[in-house]
Amino acid sequence: MTTEALLEEAEGLRARLVEFRRELHRFPELSMQEVETTRKIREALAEEGIKVLPLALRVGVLAEIEGAGPGPTVALRADIDALPIMEETGLPFASELEGKMHACGHDFHTSAILGSAILLQRYRHLLQGRVRLLFQPGEEKGIGAKAMLDAGALDGVQAIFGMHNKPDLPVGTIGLKPGALMASVDGFRIKVSGKGGHAAIPDAAIDPIVAASAIVGGLQTAISRSISPFDSAVLSVCSFHAGTSWNVIPDEAVLDGTVRTFRPEVRAQIPKLLERIASGIAGGYGARIELSWFAGIPSVHNDEEAVGIVREAAESIGLTVTDALPSAGGEDFAHYQEKIPGCFIWMGTEGTEEWHHPKFTLNEEALVPAAALFARTAHLALERGRKLTGAAVG
Ligand code: NI
Repeated sequence: MTTEALLEEAEGLRARLVEFRRELHRFPELSMQEVETTRKIREALAEEGIKVLPLALRVGVLAEIEGAGPGPTVALRADIDALPIMEETGLPFASELEGKMHACGHDFHTSAILGSAILLQRYRHLLQGRVRLLFQPGEEKGIGAKAMLDAGALDGVQAIFGMHNKPDLPVGTIGLKPGALMASVDGFRIKVSGKGGHAAIPDAAIDPIVAASAIVGGLQTAISRSISPFDSAVLSVCSFHAGTSWNVIPDEAVLDGTVRTFRPEVRAQIPKLLERIASGIAGGYGARIELSWFAGIPSVHNDEEAVGIVREAAESIGLTVTDALPSAGGEDFAHYQEKIPGCFIWMGTEGTEEWHHPKFTLNEEALVPAAALFARTAHLALERGRKLTGAAVG
């Protein structure tokens, strides 16, 4: 496909992609409840004669475009869910469902990847191999990618590509980075057990609130003293519960928090570090701790060769490529990259607010370039005609 023809074809989809994105925006659905969104995507694909594959999930869509000849299979992924946020944009196509909003731009991702699918379907006679399309539910809860994987969405797929819109990049610019782009997201709970008693007789008690307070401070120091300055890790204690009355020292205090890291080696160190520091501090006060660790999603880790393909695709259609700044946010796209090489990119959408803000907006001018970029990326990835070799996470 020539660049001119591809861009002209993509330009021809403009009104349709804008309309589709606005329709999704008006009727946002929360994670794993994307029933109507699923129906709309299936309909739009069917309209173009794109084959929808069976998927053992109530929500989400799996589709595939078969090229003219044999070859590898590559995947494009869009997430489709919205957030429990009351929209305050005042847009004419603002959410009509109270308390629900596409405040992370997944409506944009869905519409753009639909555009890529339509382009690839129209150019399928030029493809050697297949392009799998994943319209994934439940990203905001970090559970949709796992559900898609369990349903076999990546069976037979050699590489995967996806994006997130980026409010601080201009339209026509993408952010690209090999290696870690987004953080792992894990949770922890520390239960601090002491001995309850009278507020006025603390010497007869073991105060878990004082011990837990020291642990909160100690954890911050532990991260700054134990992780190399060339790595990064964020630890936040976000919930601290203890006690029921103003004059009773309680038996126990419970801390909940999250840890974000970018390298698997650093991530692996954290549970032991928390255990050691928290139990040491608690012991100093005569208290005990019990640590629970909730392993969440790994870091988004881009394969170098996959990054190279996106770079080539972007430059071939006149997009500007900048070095992506990593984000300490998480993305369950990382689960796919644990299985196969992939590349996740920032797509410039020049919004006024950051993700998850009630006034979050994006510039729809980015729809056409995004659709063209992922169509060209899939085409190029198939042209390579061989399995991408770089290591995934690890
Ligand atoms: Ni998002």
